[in-house]
Amino acid sequence: MAKKIVVLGSLNVDSIMKMPRMPLVGETMALTDVATAPGGKGANQAVAAARQGAQVDFIGAVGQDANGTFMRQTLQDNGVDVSAVTVNPQVPTGSAYIMLQANGANTILIHGGANQALTLADLDEAIIAQADTLIAQFEVPLDVITAAFKLAKTHDVQTVLNPAPAVYDITPTLASLTDIILPNETEAQLLTGIPVTNDEAVLNQVSDALLAMGIPRSIITLGDAGAFIADGDQRWWAQPKKVAAVDTTAAGDTFIGTLANELAPDMHNLAQAVDRASTASAIAVTRHGAIPSIPTRDEVDQF
Ligand code: RIB
Ligand code: NA
Repeated sequence: MAKKIVVLGSLNVDSIMKMPRMPLVGETMALTDVATAPGGKGANQAVAAARQGAQVDFIGAVGQDANGTFMRQTLQDNGVDVSAVTVNPQVPTGSAYIMLQANGANTILIHGGANQALTLADLDEAIIAQADTLIAQFEVPLDVITAAFKLAKTHDVQTVLNPAPAVYDITPTLASLTDIILPNETEAQLLTGIPVTNDEAVLNQVSDALLAMGIPRSIITLGDAGAFIADGDQRWWAQPKKVAAVDTTAAGDTFIGTLANELAPDMHNLAQAVDRASTASAIAVTRHGAIPSIPTRDEVDQF
């Protein structure tokens, strides 16, 4: 039976600027290429789960513009239900401007638009209530995320929090409603105040701090160093799969969407879920664009 996942999150049209390196302040530099692709952390995670076979509902918002139509169509083409995606005529659809360097590293600027205009009225309790899992990121307002997690816990729905980008402090209330948190190193540092490195003693300390906040499981993603996982007192590394990176955009999102599908409904199989999520994310970094780079279930099986 397909897992039921609800994603509360952002929908962005990504403008990708390919460049040899980051420009300096005051410099004018030629791009090597430009491209447009569907993205947004919410949309990417929803499509990653859907391509693994999950039945996915999306809660979010777009503007009444061509980008909004494109993003809703993209979700629908991937089998994601968009009946809880609001069309807000007051603001544009979210957009992201991705500076992609020749080595595959990226720097992203975002304009929240409709994502940031999301309100409590956009939440659909019935959709959350029927899910196995609710996933959220930090590209929509924090009060909406907290309210959604409250609804999830009322209905025994598991919650997955990706505190990205590092824009909000996690409140004690939100921490108490979170079943698993997945920060990268920057986000983990913001949440715990601990300068994060790849050193295991430091990562244990960070994991302890997240546990002390009331979050029972954490995965700190560390780029090409893999990930450090904590399930209560148990700790282990997920080794990175070796691939040639061309574009790391949406690698983390692919990991999270794949993981959430694998973990539903009760999160008992964390180690196995992490392994599959690592494979899916490794495939995504070998391809360009956010949503276009996310692998299907068969592609992950065959890797
Ligand atoms: O995580 C990658 C995503 O972050 C991009 O698709 C961009 O839209 C930003 O939201
Ligand atoms: Na990619």
